[in-house]
Amino acid sequence: MNQFISVHDVADINALVAKAVNYKANPFMHHQLAANKRIGLLFLNPSLRTRLSTQVAAANLGMEAVVFNVDKEGWALEFEEGAIMSGNTVEHIKDAAPILGNYFDVLAIRTFPSLINKADDYSEMYINQFIKYAGVPVISLESATLHPLQSLADIITIREQIMQNKITHKPKIVLTWAPHIKPLPQCVANSFAQWMNAWGEADFVITHPEDYELNEKFTKGAKITQDQDAALKNADFIYVKNWSTYNDYGKIYENDPKWMLTNEKLATTNNAKVMHCLPVRRNVELSDEILDGPNSLVTQLAGNRVWAAQAVLAEILMNKK
Ligand code: CP
Repeated sequence: MNQFISVHDVADINALVAKAVNYKANPFMHHQLAANKRIGLLFLNPSLRTRLSTQVAAANLGMEAVVFNVDKEGWALEFEEGAIMSGNTVEHIKDAAPILGNYFDVLAIRTFPSLINKADDYSEMYINQFIKYAGVPVISLESATLHPLQSLADIITIREQIMQNKITHKPKIVLTWAPHIKPLPQCVANSFAQWMNAWGEADFVITHPEDYELNEKFTKGAKITQDQDAALKNADFIYVKNWSTYNDYGKIYENDPKWMLTNEKLATTNNAKVMHCLPVRRNVELSDEILDGPNSLVTQLAGNRVWAAQAVLAEILMNKK
């Protein structure tokens, strides 16, 4: 692996999951793997889990992680080729990225979408410009359209539950849209769909209100329905997430609380385990009774972000040797 931007960078999902599970059992088994190496964690947007789990993962491999909150502490970056920089941007990425590549062995970057210009966001200009000019492996800490470290942790968590609960049938996994007060990126939902389809070991269903169709590039292969009740029936896992509209880009068309998952809805499932990437708006996106109840996997899932990051870092470092 020489970068981690999407599921397409992964040769074997189950092998990467197994590697992560091994690190969970023995976090320090490769504590010298990245001795004297550094990773730069660049944030153009906020983070709790991604930032801290990647720092812990790097430390477990003997790697120094340096965090740079570019949005608050750095010069305003320009990403457009040929830009006449007479506006607010101060430094071009083609000047900044090679310097960062000089300081660090690996770079990781979080860049959210604008949710204003779909073509720009879906071209992944920011992360692609970093890759083009950095000269070292780049890891996505969530980009304009995808969140691969989250999706890897999602599958690790599902695999753990399948093993713990001795699930022998093909699990039914439902991605359900949930209400939210702000327009959110489609990244987590796109990425979960992309990884589920590539993994191929689940009966994968997506349910959302009218007008909330995701990009087919990521969802193709999934069953898609606007009937949430039908989708949830006999589900083994429910992934709850809000996203804003994709077609009429970045809008909120629907906020009906009837889409929020409750214990009443859970009763129709196969005692489904409930996942959410966090942060979550309680009693808007997901109810207290679910989040605080026995079926919630949110804390376990967030914990698994460390092992996902550690497995990816190790793959990249072993490839670099
Ligand atoms: N799930 C997730 O990426 O969390 P953060 O935004 O806090 O990193």
